[in-house]
Amino acid sequence: MKIENGELSIIHTPLEMQALSQNWQKGLSIGFVPTMGFLHEGHLSLVQESNRMCDVTVVSIFVNPSQFGANEDLSSYPRNLERDLQLLSKHKVDYVFIPKAEDIYPPTYRTWVNVTGISEVLCGASRPGHFTGVATVVLKLVNIVKPGLMFMGEKDYQQVTVLKAMLKDLNVPTTIIPCPIMREADGLAMSSRNTYLKGEARQQALCLYKAILMAKQLYREGIRDTNMLCEAASEIIKTNKGEIDYIEFVDPETLAHVGYAEADTRMILAVKVGVTRLIDNSLIQ
Ligand code: PAF
Repeated sequence: MKIENGELSIIHTPLEMQALSQNWQKGLSIGFVPTMGFLHEGHLSLVQESNRMCDVTVVSIFVNPSQFGANEDLSSYPRNLERDLQLLSKHKVDYVFIPKAEDIYPPTYRTWVNVTGISEVLCGASRPGHFTGVATVVLKLVNIVKPGLMFMGEKDYQQVTVLKAMLKDLNVPTTIIPCPIMREADGLAMSSRNTYLKGEARQQALCLYKAILMAKQLYREGIRDTNMLCEAASEIIKTNKGEIDYIEFVDPETLAHVGYAEADTRMILAVKVGVTRLIDNSLIQ
């Protein structure tokens, strides 16, 4: 049964949200889309999937301070709540949870979730503490919203992998539904941070997708040595003046480096284009 009230309800406090969820849990399936706002088609595809699979859809909008490093873009992170709410209303979201930072992290706050190993490689190596912030806030949001299903975009492949491990390790009865990366017409993976790409940086940002396409083509031609795939991808990034953070070929579950690419190998990369750090990934097949 879908709630058909046509009205978007905005919830601000964890207690109010928890009370609603506890009630829904008695007979409705709850779908959850956690976001930091500044919504784009990628987020909306998650909402659509949640609407399709669940009775109630809750979207959270919370720019989580604990996942930003000291020199990162917390204060300048793009925000446009009015536009977000209009989009969610059009996409028939039932409830939007917009907590205040002090309700999520009161002054006495002291508990952190650390998913060892897979949080420390790739983006975790470049952004120490980032996944502790993500895992902590997502566990808190899940405890508040109590979803059966949580919808997340595969653009943040490592994030999805870390959170799946966290939910499994801590016996949380929520299943993540990973949803495909949404791309602009020219291939750029959709991200709220794409708004930072001004002038020629927007064109240069295509180097991530071009590097992925090149590696996939070489794989199709029979090249399996990931050093060779990595070299070809690096060449494309450098030609487009991108600054490589990492280009890796990994096992899809453990995120461990693989030297020989197989059909399920994931290519995953992070590149700085101008001032903007972008990530992307794809199956190599
Ligand atoms: O992917 C994001 O937008 C954030 O990392 C998340 C999952 C909402 C946690 O703050």
